[in-house]
Amino acid sequence: MEVVITSGAEESARLAADAIEQLLGRKPDAVLGLATGSTPLPTYDELVRRQEAGRISFSRARGFTLDEYIGLPADHPQRYRNVIDRELVGRVDFAPDAVTGPDGLAEDLQAAAAAYERAIAEAGGVDLQILGIGTNGHIAFNEPGSSLASRTRVQPLAPQTRSDNARFFDGDVEAVPRLCFTQGLGTIMEARHLVLIATGEGKAKAVQQLVEGAVSASWPATIMQHHPHATVLLDGAAASLLE
Ligand code: F6R
Repeated sequence: MEVVITSGAEESARLAADAIEQLLGRKPDAVLGLATGSTPLPTYDELVRRQEAGRISFSRARGFTLDEYIGLPADHPQRYRNVIDRELVGRVDFAPDAVTGPDGLAEDLQAAAAAYERAIAEAGGVDLQILGIGTNGHIAFNEPGSSLASRTRVQPLAPQTRSDNARFFDGDVEAVPRLCFTQGLGTIMEARHLVLIATGEGKAKAVQQLVEGAVSASWPATIMQHHPHATVLLDGAAASLLE
């Protein structure tokens, strides 16, 4: 695992965008794994700037999001499908339907989870996966206790995650869904390059475990220690508990 301590969120965003630019340069039809949440937003802004400047194009690329709340109405602003459209997909030149996510409104959730796994495999797998990390060490919504070999599935959100994410729901923790769809840890580990970004002191404990802790389902992100090509981009605050 390559750990880079950057000068801050902007440099982390530039480095993550560099990795995507290099990938698209050598493989214009690359498959990108896209995280939602607040951490990747500077990276997405940087990608939009680079596309507007003609440095990159997403016209042949495809994308898969990591996770989705279950049960939010189709037009809910916090539905991750809508978030990723607003923050990235609708601002660059992806082809229509080139980016998909797990269907949180599917009637048969298990079938939808299996279909999502198949869609990723049929696309040839994810070339580069952008990740954030939860304060409790989750990646995607693989909460503590998740099997390190897990696949896309329905998961209850941990109370910590619902409370952390209440900020996206006007501070109302009761408005945060209790269930989600998430790619599994085993699914994420199949991506060819993992790029995890963490910013802020709130992530310091989870980052300490990710980098220095034992691999354990108690801190799901630690599975990344077993990945052959993982990059971790940290600002000083997120790195503050590292030895
Ligand atoms: C979201 C996701 C989550 C977030 C994590 C951190 O798609 O996969 O694992 O990356 O909850 O969220 P932020 O970036 O909002 O701190």
